[in-house]
Amino acid sequence: MADNNRANFGSKLGVVAAAAGSAVGLGNIWRFPYELGQSGGGAFLLIYIVCIVLLGLPIMTSEFLIGRMSQSNAVGAFRKLGPKGSKWWLVGVMGVLSAFFIMGFYVVVSGWTLEYIVQAVTNSFANKDTETLTRAFTDFSTGTWRPIIWMTLFLVITCVIIVGGVKNGIEKSAKFMMPLLLIIIVALGVRAVTLPGGAEGLRFLFKPDFSKIDSSVVLNAMGQAFFSLSLGMGCMITYGSYINKKNHLAHTVLEVTFVDTIIAVLASIAIFPAVFSFGINPEQGPTLVFITLPNIFAHMPGGLIWSLLFFILLSIAALTSTISLLEVIVAFFTEEFKMSRAKAAIIASAGIWVLGVCASLSMGVWSDVHIFGFTIFDFLDNITSKIMMPLGGLLIALFAGWVMKKDQMLGELSNNGKYKTAYFRAYYFIVRFVAPVAILMIFLNQLGVFRWLRL
Ligand code: PHE
Repeated sequence: MADNNRANFGSKLGVVAAAAGSAVGLGNIWRFPYELGQSGGGAFLLIYIVCIVLLGLPIMTSEFLIGRMSQSNAVGAFRKLGPKGSKWWLVGVMGVLSAFFIMGFYVVVSGWTLEYIVQAVTNSFANKDTETLTRAFTDFSTGTWRPIIWMTLFLVITCVIIVGGVKNGIEKSAKFMMPLLLIIIVALGVRAVTLPGGAEGLRFLFKPDFSKIDSSVVLNAMGQAFFSLSLGMGCMITYGSYINKKNHLAHTVLEVTFVDTIIAVLASIAIFPAVFSFGINPEQGPTLVFITLPNIFAHMPGGLIWSLLFFILLSIAALTSTISLLEVIVAFFTEEFKMSRAKAAIIASAGIWVLGVCASLSMGVWSDVHIFGFTIFDFLDNITSKIMMPLGGLLIALFAGWVMKKDQMLGELSNNGKYKTAYFRAYYFIVRFVAPVAILMIFLNQLGVFRWLRL
């Protein structure tokens, strides 16, 4: 093999577990259900799935391709594959920066999941009403020390796993955590649909209400697809570089995307029947998970166990994602600056910690500090998901469609002729034309250009 020294995922299952671990996260279990609740239930689901198939699959394929062909981190990959002297490596730099920024707010919410595990263990949701639970969440999340302590702990756990390496850290932990996550979410789903009145939740989820669909819903669904599949910021390039040359890339893409989508749907199946059964407004938004669910658990037989399972699930999902985000930065540091993994992980985590502290404080004492009109937390969230990731995805599609050599791509996808690549023409057409145009539209919409034009 060309690069014997480079770390590799050991098994096929390990690759899928790690990449699906990256994709499945707070985006699936926290963000997807509330987006769906606000955007017409089944209709959003349908459009989301179209986005996944039309954009998610080809862009993930491109990222894996770029990673495995170059055997490099996100920055090195573009330098190796792009024309000499070109500036494509800047796409990788933007990816590494995105990883920093996403981590900055992601670890804060991840830390909250640990607090909620403790709350669940101590049965503190029991017999509380909505008002009390809302106050508890607000008091906690706007507080100074507790969220920072939880965030720090979460970051330390992520860092320790990353220092463990690709095979023994990332792969091993994902192989253990992902099946556990699946079991928990299925158990929660079964429990939710068997609640009295739960059928209505399922109807909401699967019966499309097309009257709710407008252009912004379509564009939201596309943005959600990017975030949820960890695309547009070099994460799948980095993981792709660890995929064994013998693995079938197209299958891996299908498997990861399938798991990510199924978990988002299962999370919604676990949440919406319960929401309807207890008469809660499905359009509640981001507080759905931290306020509504404890509310549901508070009034449910065996609530302690279910809430404990749910928040363990949420923190596992978050952890496999923070691992992948940190790895983007660590792979860059170790390869471009010849650092050891431990040193790279510690330096990166220290930077993330500072950002995370700022983001956490911006929920409370620093809520008056604004960057472009956003709190620090919202700024990090918005600049990554609304600007950097779509822009990264657009550039990655252009790179695959117009810069990379077609026969080399075919060779990589077919493992030098071993596997069929009948899908290649469709894939190539999408990355050349469809994806760039579609992503440009998300991008313009999120900058408010369409709204501005209509005025
Ligand atoms: N896909 C993750 C989620 O859904 C978030 C993420 C984005 C992880 C980008 C890595 C890179 O929560």
